[in-house]
Amino acid sequence: MRESNRIACEVLDLIEKHVRPGVKTIELDRLAEDHIRSQGAIPAFKGYRQGNSSPYPGSICTSVNQEVVHGIPGERILKEGDILSVDVGINKNGFFGDSARTFPIGKIDTETERLLKITREALFIGIAEARAGNRVHDISAAIQEYVEAAGYNVVRELVGHGIGRSLHEEPAVPNYGKRGTGMKLVDGMVLAIEPMVNGGTFRVKVAKDGWTIVTADGRPSAHYEHTVIVRNGEAEILSKVA
Ligand code: MF3
Ligand code: CO
Repeated sequence: MRESNRIACEVLDLIEKHVRPGVKTIELDRLAEDHIRSQGAIPAFKGYRQGNSSPYPGSICTSVNQEVVHGIPGERILKEGDILSVDVGINKNGFFGDSARTFPIGKIDTETERLLKITREALFIGIAEARAGNRVHDISAAIQEYVEAAGYNVVRELVGHGIGRSLHEEPAVPNYGKRGTGMKLVDGMVLAIEPMVNGGTFRVKVAKDGWTIVTADGRPSAHYEHTVIVRNGEAEILSKVA
């Protein structure tokens, strides 16, 4: 899982270097897929099905502005002032990794900059709660409290998750909840913690393509995700480069 998550981090670092006005999201998907395969790994999202949906076509998810998650890479050209959330899942030797970041495209307005900053900070505040003896919803509550105090809202309909031999395992890791509830955390558990934060209402809907989740009010949304292990009682981030 260290390996698959190291590759996830490398993909996001690579994309960070290539995002700029004028780039198409499908170009980023190709860059990502090439790097993943060069590492002897498989893009975990490609062909993924949820319920009776069509198989997900991309190697990454590219979600622009009011798109929350699961945006499909395509001919869309990024422009100055956009934000782009990129989510990547990796399968290396049957072990999974999962990570996401939101990138500004060129210069963005200060309010949107703040949305990105608060979402990133909410992720780290959640990660700090992933300690042995805590419960899953301690992570959830910490994220929710931080985000709402900043004047934003957490998406309810999508959640973080356990991860390991599958991309999505128990427990669900919501970005809202009540402290002291949920599964007790013990050493060895691996979780994908992933706050999705909306500038306006927490409500979301599914776009016509059947995949892309968008905010109900059209305001922008940000997403950051790390895969972490509870180890020696503390959270250790796996989705980073050593
Ligand atoms: N990235 C999502 C997660 O973190 C899963 C995306 S599934 C896909 O759980 F099929 F849309 F790619
Ligand atoms: Co995830």
